[in-house]
Amino acid sequence: MEKALRITKIEPYIISLMERFPILSYYATTRAWPFLISWGHRLAGLTLVGYMFAHIYTLSLLSTPADFDADMRLLHNPVFSFLEWALAIPLAFHSLNGGRLILYELFHVREDEIMIRWMVILGLIYILIVGFLSIEEGTQVSVNVFWSITVAMSLIASLIVFNKVWGTRNSIPWKLQRITGAYMIPMVLGHMLFMHMNYLTGHDSKTILLRMQNPFIKGADFVFIIFLLFHAGYGIFSVIADYIRPGPLLKSLTCLVVIVMAISAYYGIRLIMAL
Ligand code: HEM
Repeated sequence: MEKALRITKIEPYIISLMERFPILSYYATTRAWPFLISWGHRLAGLTLVGYMFAHIYTLSLLSTPADFDADMRLLHNPVFSFLEWALAIPLAFHSLNGGRLILYELFHVREDEIMIRWMVILGLIYILIVGFLSIEEGTQVSVNVFWSITVAMSLIASLIVFNKVWGTRNSIPWKLQRITGAYMIPMVLGHMLFMHMNYLTGHDSKTILLRMQNPFIKGADFVFIIFLLFHAGYGIFSVIADYIRPGPLLKSLTCLVVIVMAISAYYGIRLIMAL
């Protein structure tokens, strides 16, 4: 695969850049792309988990809208706006690479070099669109139309994967990791686009509360939070299980992950229902 990936001018250029940094140079020359991509996937997944908890915290402030608005005013500065945009990078990378892994594992798509290039091209286009929308900030879109299309795409993607994966011999959590991943591709990519179309959509308590009181949005948020927390929880477990041998420590950490995700689900769902 490494050979196939180096046939354009881009790969040698990226490798020459990496070779300037001792740690990256070691990996660029000894481990090649699949290793770097799987590390990128892991780091991006863990970054998204960190963001997810911060996001649940800020959304919990919506129960007292004045606190939420005060928090948003505090965060309304160029540094935070840049970080909000920069989140599109791990988000696009993890989502598209997760989609590639699902196609590879379940649908036996083996043209990895073509898939990786498309992943990079689509990821860059997505990141630029999010950047453009953040600067433009004035785009209006119908909430129901946007989310109906996004939820429909998510349902179709997850049903296709469910159909393919359910009969396999993998563990149920492993299968659910792929099904929830497929569901989240349109949902999380759509979520970020939607939030950047107009500043008020994602930062003004009145606008957010009005949207979240819509029964259709409540249902979509309910399913999303369960899928997201399961996916993130099983993801953290997979990372831990790679470093800790089966035994009491792994069991205790697994229980801790389950408890943290269950508490987050409880508060998340309570918030969605109460608003
Ligand atoms: C948006 C669509 C997403 C897709 C298609 C996706 C797909 C995947 C897949 C296929 C895996 C398994 C990788 C493997 O076993 O090698 C995975 C792992 C993981 N995902 Fe996602 N994911 C998505 C979103 C998210 C989100 C939003 C989060 C965090 C809130 C997240 C966190 C993780 C973590 C922590 C792992 C474990 C990484 C590892 O084992 O190295 N994912 N994802």
